[in-house]
Amino acid sequence: MEFPVDTEMDVTRLLSLRGKEAAALREAAHQTKIRHLGDKVYLRGLIEFSNICTKNCHYCGIRRDSAVPRYSMRPDEVLQAADFAYKQGFGSIVLQSGERRSEAFTSLIEQLVKEIMHRSHGELGITLSLGEQSMETYARWKAAGALRYLLRIETSSPVLYARLHPADHRFEERADCLRRLRETGYLVGSGIMTGLPFQSTGQVARDLLFLRDMHVDMVGMGPYLEHEQTPLWAFRHQIPSREERYETGLNALAVLRLLMPHINMAATTAMGTLHPDGRKEALYTAANVIMPNITPVVHRKDYSLYDNKICISEPLQDTLENITRTIEAAGCTVALGEQGNPRGTR
Ligand code: 5AD
Ligand code: SF4
Repeated sequence: MEFPVDTEMDVTRLLSLRGKEAAALREAAHQTKIRHLGDKVYLRGLIEFSNICTKNCHYCGIRRDSAVPRYSMRPDEVLQAADFAYKQGFGSIVLQSGERRSEAFTSLIEQLVKEIMHRSHGELGITLSLGEQSMETYARWKAAGALRYLLRIETSSPVLYARLHPADHRFEERADCLRRLRETGYLVGSGIMTGLPFQSTGQVARDLLFLRDMHVDMVGMGPYLEHEQTPLWAFRHQIPSREERYETGLNALAVLRLLMPHINMAATTAMGTLHPDGRKEALYTAANVIMPNITPVVHRKDYSLYDNKICISEPLQDTLENITRTIEAAGCTVALGEQGNPRGTR
């Protein structure tokens, strides 16, 4: 079967496939992934080191107005988590937190990046996921040794972006930040949420083509999941069913793999939360990266982007065993000791 992805209409049609046709689309994506990237899955140890955020995105459980208890891991706790990732043979770590722009925060990250580079003899790839920042800040963190940066565009529609965020969160600023990151020399990851209220299938198709046109190196893309304490909860009846979100989510991963055969794509925690087989199916279909949560268990429940997030109370060892099992069940192999950087994307 042929699966053309040249136009918005092609992509919209593929996203809507169900049953046998969807299975064939996902199989085609799987073959493309294996042909270009093989069956390796890279591990990125995810350290959610603080849930303090100055932003107020309407969908997010740790938004500024949320009543969640706030935490920041101490620098020595972050370093310990990074050491753990290094010793486990993970190719890289992701430092993620809410968005903050103070000099104190900027320099804390700068110091942490330098120290982690030093301790891992420059072997651990450091990915940052710390929101919108100035060119200067991005450059300082890059100079300290960071290699990659994740900043989701969330949606490529400025109109939808405006409905999902307060008025002072601007789509143009987000898009500018992606340009700044590219100019500063990072490997750039972006992504979207699927299954959002007010989002059409045609919009998701435009999002995927946008990611292609941006020549991103990596994509993290997952379903929107409700959080009871957020403004978007009021629109929970206007989103597709869980089943529909799952089907569209997998098709979106498949189409993106056909559009961008070489990029790194994550099997997201949100996919795993939506469906017990979510991450396994994502890995089989298209993904080649998974981010084991190595945040100390005491903090995990407070990094509550959405309700019922998985892996919040299990010990670290269980998380790792689960992930290894998931990777193997998807017919893939765990890549240890390799950073797994995308190639040939620009
Ligand atoms: N459902 C799914 N993903 C979410 N994110 C934030 N809130 C939610 C939610 N309710 C995602 C956003 C953000 C990333 C860190 O988490 O895409 O970029
Ligand atoms: Fe803050 Fe990110 Fe949540 Fe927005 S999505 S409120 S920037 S943590």
